[in-house]
Formats: sequence, structure tokens, C-alpha cells
Amino acid sequence: MPTIHIVIADADVESRRNLADLIRAEQSLQLIGQAGDGREGLELVHEQRPDILLVDTHIAGSDSAAIIERLRTQYPDMGIIVLTHEARPEEMRRMMRAGAHDFLVKPIAREDLMESVREVYSTLQKIRHLQEAQKDAPRSMIITVFSPQGGAGKSVLAANLAVALRQQLPTHDGVVLVDLNLQFGDIDLVLNLAAENSIAGLAQKHQSGELDPETVESYLTTHTDTGLKVLVAPSTPEYAETVTVYTVEQVLNALQSQYAYIVVDTPSQLTDTTFVAFDFSQTILLLTTLDLLAIHKTRTALDRLRQLYPAEKIKLVLNRANSQVGITVSDVEGILDMPITAHIPSDGHVVVKSVNEGIPFVLSAPDSAIAQSVMDLSRNLLGKEVATVATADKASHKSRASFWRLLFGE
Ligand SMILES: Nc1ncnc2c1ncn2[C@@H]1O[C@H](COP(=O)(O)OP(=O)(O)OP(=O)(O)O)[C@@H](O)[C@H]1O
Ligand SMILES: [Mg+2]
Repeated sequence: MPTIHIVIADADVESRRNLADLIRAEQSLQLIGQAGDGREGLELVHEQRPDILLVDTHIAGSDSAAIIERLRTQYPDMGIIVLTHEARPEEMRRMMRAGAHDFLVKPIAREDLMESVREVYSTLQKIRHLQEAQKDAPRSMIITVFSPQGGAGKSVLAANLAVALRQQLPTHDGVVLVDLNLQFGDIDLVLNLAAENSIAGLAQKHQSGELDPETVESYLTTHTDTGLKVLVAPSTPEYAETVTVYTVEQVLNALQSQYAYIVVDTPSQLTDTTFVAFDFSQTILLLTTLDLLAIHKTRTALDRLRQLYPAEKIKLVLNRANSQVGITVSDVEGILDMPITAHIPSDGHVVVKSVNEGIPFVLSAPDSAIAQSVMDLSRNLLGKEVATVATADKASHKSRASFWRLLFGE
């Protein structure tokens, strides 16, 4: 492990000394500065650019959350661990929402400090890695559909959204759907695909070298009715573990060079490979339903996502939004402290028929309220800029090269 550089900002001299002793006793840590007040702390961070800042809640006075938020925006790849005298849940929550990565209660034990520093540092490495990867990557948009609730409607939404995006793009092309529900993926069933290849095959290929875009392309299956390209999940759960974080990184990298939009379906767990998709994504669609257990799980997942990603990356989607079950839409927004971006109504008739026929409802029942809601979401994601270009060029079908130019002015 490389040396982790740390700055302490704590008004209490005794506490600062204790922390400094703990840090100096660890070979993998290096103390590069200490501050006794907020201003000094900010200056040190600016000059020294530590990997991790240990900051006492009292140092910044009453507006400590605002300072943490500012630091988080200015230095997105710096870890912030907040120190406090007592574990007050409300305060902890406020700090975490402001962007703190972790919380330690004084007196701080050596093992707790080490565990926290290591965990926060490894999260930061992921972010740095992503920033590096994004530097040269073409500007495609990755949209990941996630819900911690099984059966929330992720796969149905992912499939229909991918088709809706495709329909709304001028070339009716440039979209790929990736099933990262590696153990129990069923996008092939939702779209009635007879897939010969899956991501498991790419995982095997990957063991013998890098995955180039042509190889990845040859593992995609085309949905006959729409022409949508799909990378399906392994056919049986035992193949799931052969698909590593590195395979998924390479697959997404390769697809980014060929497709303007990548829609990713996920399992209900926060697996390593799901995090890779989140890291690569511009948008995470967090799907929930009007069900107390689903909302509870969504809140837990949301807390984790908010620690790792900027708020604007996460969009809340409510499925079966019109169910009369005693919980209202504003209850959900209140509990999750987040507005709902899209409301998808419940429509068993349209959804089941669409799944049984393997034709996404945005095509088979485009006038239904459920299809309209997915098309609205798709337009929202496409954004004004692209939508305008799309309308302007609706009539002309262009090659992929000019499609990229059209979208991004290359
Ligand atoms: N808006 C809706 N109205 C009616 N039925 C729906 C709706 N959304 C999803 N369903 C139904 O709910 C079931 C679960 O949907 P889906 O498979 O998309 O969920 P999932 O979140 O992908 O599940 P898993 O966690 O198993 O991957 C399906 O039978 C689907 O037809
Ligand atoms: Mg699913």
C-alpha cells in the first residue's frame, strides 16, 4: 500500500497530539500537517493536498457541515473523516450528507483509525482511477438502473428505456443494453432473445488479454424487432463469478468507444461489479416502489451512494407509482429526502403481455401511460441539447461517424 498523507484539523491540542502519535506509529501513514483552527486547516489542505483530512466537528464551529461540503466539492478526491466527542446520529447524518466519508468517536483507538483510513483511501483510489479512465474516454452516457429491492422492475425499465432512447435518437442507433445481474440476469427473457454469447464469454477472453471494441461487439446479441444491441448475463449463476471488476471495466470502456448510450441492468445487491457500473455512470436511476420495505432498503442504498457520488448523479424513479397502498409520493420524497424524477405507473396487463411477447411496451403499446412515462424519462436523460439536435436531423439517417459528430460536435 502506498503512503497515505494525512492532515489533522483539531482545536484540542491534547487530541491532536494523540492522533499524531497514532499516525506516526504507522509506516503506511504520513502526517503532513496539523491545524488548530478552520482557516489554518483550509490553508493546509490547499497547500499540502492530503489524501485524508481528519477534522474535528468543533474546529469549524457551527457551520462545519458547510465547510465539509465546500471541501468535498473543491477536493473531490480527498477523504474526509470527521472526529467527534459523542456519537449523535443527527450530527453524524448531517456530516455524512455534507460529504464526510467516515466518522470516528473520541477517544480514537488505533485499529479504528487504521480501518477507517484504509477504507476511505480505497474508496478514493476508485474515484481517482475513474477520473483517469474518464480523461481519454469518449463522451458516452452510461445509465445504470438499480434497486436494492428484488422485483422492483429494474429489468423491465432498463429494456424499455434502452429502446426509448434508441427511438429518440436521430439514427435510431447508438444504444447498447448490458445485463450486469450476473447471477440471475433475465434481460434475454424480457426481450425474448436467443443469445449465443454472454458476458461470461468475454470474461474468458479477458483472461488472455485486453478486450478490444471489435471483440466486445461480437459478443452482443441483436434484438430482432428493434435492432437494439444487448450484452446478456451468463446463462447460469456459476459463471457469474468469472466476471470480475476488471472484465466489467474493460467491457464498458470498449462499449464507450462505440455507443453513445449504455444502459446497465443490475442485481439487487451492491456488488463490486455494480459499483463499477456506478463509477462509470453519468446517471444512476434508483428505482423504488410504494412499499415500506422497498423504501427502507432504498434509503440505506441511497445513504451509501450519497457518500460515494455527487447528488446530481442519482435520480429517483418510482415504479408502480399509482398503487393505492397508504403511502403517498410525498411520503417517499420526504423519507428519502429527494425529489422523484420519474413516476412509472403500474400496468400489469401491458407489462406482462410485453414480457410474454418479448417486445418492449414502448413499442408494443406506445400510447399507454406506462410507455409514455418511460419515454418522458428517456427525453429527460437525453437532455435539451441532444434532443434539439435530434429533432433538427430527424429526417436524415447518418453513419455512426457522423452520428458522433452530430451528438458531440467532434
Ligand atoms: N410498472 C409495472 N407494472 C406492472 N408490472 C410491473 C411493473 N414493473 C415491473 N412489473 C413486473 O414486476 C416483475 C418484476 O420486474 P423485473 O423483473 O423488471 O424486476 P427486477 O427489479 O429486474 O427484478 P430482479 O431483482 O429479480 O432482477 C415482472 O413480472 C414485471 O412484469
Ligand atoms: Mg432484473
